[in-house]
Amino acid sequence: METSHAAAEMVWAPEAFAAKFDREPFGFEHNLSGLGLFGFDNLTALARQYAGFDQDYFVAGSAPTPGTEFYAVPRLYQQPHEALEHLDDAAYRVLLKRPEKFAPDFADLLRHLFAQVVAAAGQLAKEEIVRLESAIFISSAAATTPFHFDPEVNFFSQIEGEKTYHVYPPAAVTETELERFYKRGIVNIGQLDLSKRQISQECVFNLEAGRGLHQPQNSPHWVETGRSRSISYSFVFETASSRARGRARSCNHYLRKLGFHPAPPGIHPAIDALKSGTMQFVIPARQGVARSVRGMLGR
Ligand SMILES: [Fe+2]
Repeated sequence: METSHAAAEMVWAPEAFAAKFDREPFGFEHNLSGLGLFGFDNLTALARQYAGFDQDYFVAGSAPTPGTEFYAVPRLYQQPHEALEHLDDAAYRVLLKRPEKFAPDFADLLRHLFAQVVAAAGQLAKEEIVRLESAIFISSAAATTPFHFDPEVNFFSQIEGEKTYHVYPPAAVTETELERFYKRGIVNIGQLDLSKRQISQECVFNLEAGRGLHQPQNSPHWVETGRSRSISYSFVFETASSRARGRARSCNHYLRKLGFHPAPPGIHPAIDALKSGTMQFVIPARQGVARSVRGMLGR
């Protein structure tokens, strides 16, 4: 029987949520696979609406290896609904970004699911949410998404088919690597070298319909689909404080260049605020960074 999106639910162990939210990955169960919204015909009709909205979708082939650079896998300049017609002919990865912009039912689903996260993570109710969006991933069998991290908290649900999700905790990324990413002050994927991770830190989730995982911000991951077509749904968000931590890391990048050994965000909140405030002004200008940082330090 088809599930109404008002009955859509994610179920996790409350102890795991309390101990691990935005610190370590954990698995959960959900009933989203029963939603008519994710029927393939519905997704094809949705994909047709994306024609001409190039910023809202991404069509690519499979990465040859998990360690391939993310943007070294060529983007395919095909409309998403055309790629969906050929999923069995080649290894395609189709990403439909922000379906809530195109279909009110996806907006309702996103609000409904995010409310469950806010109810579980009490502190979020007091936070300013600066970005909340969902995405649908439709991939051929045996397609690989290469290693990277994203500057956002993620709840990822497998809808159809199998996906093997290899994920590391954010602690597997060094401060220097994070600073190199956040210095740009843009929302993008973070490129990392897979061979520099410790395999002992890797968590592997064997996802199938009804299973999902929580991925903290900055958790590196790579993903492979199984023997058949895969459909996944995720929603991600950033808060004003996570953006501020990113700006503090951006400031630390420049401090390190000047020979300092700055503390990571979270240790000295007042200094973090100063760093973040400086970079809020500096990042858009992208000039005079060293001068501003020197000024801030009085040298
Ligand atoms: Fe990702």
